[in-house]
Amino acid sequence: ISLKPYNSFGIDVKASFFAEIFSENDLKALFESEIVKSNLILIMGGGSNMLFTKDFDGLVVKMSIKGISNEIAGETVKVTAGAGEVWNDLVNYCVEHGFAGIENLSLIPGTVGASPIQNIGAYGVELKDVFESCTAFEIETGTFKTFNYEECHFGYRESVFKARLKGKYIITSVTFNLSTQPNINTSYGAIEAELEKRGVQKPNIADVSAAVSHIRVSKLPDPSTIGNAGSFFKNPVIEKYEFADVVANHPDVVHYPTAEGKVKLAAGWLIEQCGWKGKIVGETGTWKNQALVLVNHGNATGKEVYQLSEQIIDSVKSTFGVTLEREVNIL
Ligand code: EPU
Repeated sequence: ISLKPYNSFGIDVKASFFAEIFSENDLKALFESEIVKSNLILIMGGGSNMLFTKDFDGLVVKMSIKGISNEIAGETVKVTAGAGEVWNDLVNYCVEHGFAGIENLSLIPGTVGASPIQNIGAYGVELKDVFESCTAFEIETGTFKTFNYEECHFGYRESVFKARLKGKYIITSVTFNLSTQPNINTSYGAIEAELEKRGVQKPNIADVSAAVSHIRVSKLPDPSTIGNAGSFFKNPVIEKYEFADVVANHPDVVHYPTAEGKVKLAAGWLIEQCGWKGKIVGETGTWKNQALVLVNHGNATGKEVYQLSEQIIDSVKSTFGVTLEREVNIL
């Protein structure tokens, strides 16, 4: 089966086997079957954070568990969504119901089940800010476990599911801690500017969601027409003494302080300075409005995109002495 429809980069590779999961029972049954024991397994949500560089010689398990429910207690509302819900459908559900907390995360591609794995974030909010718990299937024992906030060890685009527990659990649902009393966050300059342009003085969560969606659409390529996986690299976080070297040679370097006393650099800026922004290399390249996004202009192979990413890493390293790390999973 071709995985082209299942990965947002639109890379045409094949998987030997494919299973779609609609319930926790489906998952239990699948993992009791022979096919699982004799094959490599790849768990897939929206396929919006992966780059396939070759055919997958194993079983792809597509998570399609649906359902959204809520439980209101005073101002607090706990919203639980199945892993297979499209992330932005959950955002829309919450905005429509007046449940505040994830409106800044509008239009992020992918599914709910994938959202804690890399602690998705945008426009001043990260998933960890609203995370209550998640339920996950333990592959080895065939049982379900609930993870609370502390157990997930969230960091910038990081969690325990990418680190120590990688490949051991499959997230089946996530519960979010939201509020009926919005705490509007327009700290990210671009949102404020967009709201001002719209003449919105007292934004509600629908206004914030609309502003964020507009910014994303204008900056980021739509994966349904131009294959991509959002930011291809993480914004590098470096020590202060390392930053001193960078800023000495590049006084205008875009940077932000982190809570841990380190410095975060804007990878898109570094890549643009190296002359890559909007560059087309064969069937691949970087996006014209956001150099951090690598794209498939039509028939790119995963290898081609990967090679471009290597070239970008090399040139940022030699210009700035900074090593970019990929955010996208390479398969
Ligand atoms: N910049 C450039 N040139 C570029 C791109 C960016 O100079 O080609 C500069 C911008 O001018 C700005 C700074 O870099 O000063 C930051 O740019 P932007 O606001 O576009 O955000 P980002 O740091 O590039 C991160 C996330 C995005 C998220 C946005 C908005 C990462 C790896 N990426 O990008 O998340 O949407 O902030 O909050 O942290 C994703 O993870 O896939 C993703 C899209």
